[in-house]
Amino acid sequence: MEKTLVLLKPDAVERRLVGRIISIYEEKGLNITALKMLKPDQDIVEAHYQEHKDKPFFPALVTYLTRGKVCALIIEGENVVNTVRKINGATDPAEAEAGTIRGQFALSKSENLVHASDSVASAEREIKIWFPELAN
Ligand code: PPS
Repeated sequence: MEKTLVLLKPDAVERRLVGRIISIYEEKGLNITALKMLKPDQDIVEAHYQEHKDKPFFPALVTYLTRGKVCALIIEGENVVNTVRKINGATDPAEAEAGTIRGQFALSKSENLVHASDSVASAEREIKIWFPELAN
């Protein structure tokens, strides 16, 4: 079964939206197979976003992700990578459809509530970063 890595970012936790967002994935019929709350350190966030390390927004992105607790999830289901990205909506909430998580709850591209892997290969890489204890 396909897997994806989802992060509910610090603004989701601060705004007490964790339960509502998780319900959206569950109500779609997807399976949450691992879940943890943690305050990530700089190393884990830099590893996660390594492909963006030369982007001008990278320092702000690391500060944002390390400022508080994050809820990390593994979600499984058929075609789950694409399905979760559709549910999350466009990266820029101004462009996200109204029915998506970002369209409904987020206002800013720099604080856009959720992350989801963009491919099966990214999911595999990101799951190892956030759930190293599951590696075999
Ligand atoms: S790019 O340049 O098109 O490759 O970047 P993009 O795919 O739009 O975004 C990559 C991740 O960086 C986040 N992002 C930002 N964070 C902080 N500030 C700004 N301005 C910003 N722009 C993009 C964006 O949300 C992506 O993270 P995830 O977690 O995958 O959504």
